[in-house]
Amino acid sequence: ISKIAVLTSGGDAPGMNAAIRAVVRSCSYYSVSCVGVYRGYQGLIEGDFEDLDARSVRNIINKGGTFLKSTRSMEFKTKEGRAKAYEKLKEKGVDALIVIGGDGTFTGGLYLSQEFDIPIIGIPATIDNDINGTDFTLGYDTALNTVVEAIDKIRDTASSHNRLFLIEVMGRDAGDIALNSGIGAGAEEILIPEEETGADRLIDSLKRSKKSGKTSSIIVVAEGEKSGKNIFELAEFIEENLDDYEIRVSVLGHIQRGGSPSCADRVLASKLGVGAVEGLLDGKRGAMVGIHHQKVVFVPLEEAIKGEAKIDKELRRVADITSV
Ligand code: F6P
Repeated sequence: ISKIAVLTSGGDAPGMNAAIRAVVRSCSYYSVSCVGVYRGYQGLIEGDFEDLDARSVRNIINKGGTFLKSTRSMEFKTKEGRAKAYEKLKEKGVDALIVIGGDGTFTGGLYLSQEFDIPIIGIPATIDNDINGTDFTLGYDTALNTVVEAIDKIRDTASSHNRLFLIEVMGRDAGDIALNSGIGAGAEEILIPEEETGADRLIDSLKRSKKSGKTSSIIVVAEGEKSGKNIFELAEFIEENLDDYEIRVSVLGHIQRGGSPSCADRVLASKLGVGAVEGLLDGKRGAMVGIHHQKVVFVPLEEAIKGEAKIDKELRRVADITSV
């Protein structure tokens, strides 16, 4: 392998820049050329390339977002789109590809590697932490810290006014952000997509906490939770069934995807970036580079995108006990 291309795709995540930097610097270390692809798979289809060297990635380890930009390309979901992308890679003399992103990115990479003869390694980067075979994805730690900091601030005002706050956090299919930030910020209740908590159970639990002497409350709601109500409908439902609290809703939104990556994410990005390049040089293909028990591991892309709910039951137990 003498030329490796790197791209970021799907929802961005803090630490993507640090991962690109690690890939580019590893290429330089092993005397392999490196090509940056702008705008994810769409840029790949359009040949939006730039040659990168060790100095091209200076001063980005601390920056949120991705300087290579990111898209969710509809064209790449078609076989024709992927064929165009492969042609562009061949024209540029690229013989391996590193894709940084989440399950959509890995699904695209898997198809490309099955249809064409190109080694691909995926680096897991999504604030949702919903990839199999790695203990953590890039951006998750930073997002958790952002969420906890925001909830701490909301708690101040909730407590001053004896209010109940419903706080929506990201996670369409995964409750990792909600469950962990909820425990970290001391939430009364945490609603996640992996469990059907039910709005009635929520009312019972709020009645109990009122009885136990609580004067304000924080409920963390993952955006994909399964009560069948959106967060505003949930607030109305609580208002109709509980007289005790004045209720406010706060949707944290894309604040969770931005910001300078935490040290843990920078270190993870650096390990995964080095691992991805070394994996390719070692003959790995169609795989994700992940971290398991502090060690770099390689997992087939098909395994990585298997959408199994992996909520830690122990965490749920801890959340229930510590919120009495
Ligand atoms: O997958 C990451 C994520 O941030 C999800 O948590 C969220 O549901 C989604 O992306 C939002 O996507 P977009 O930025 O396209 O609105």
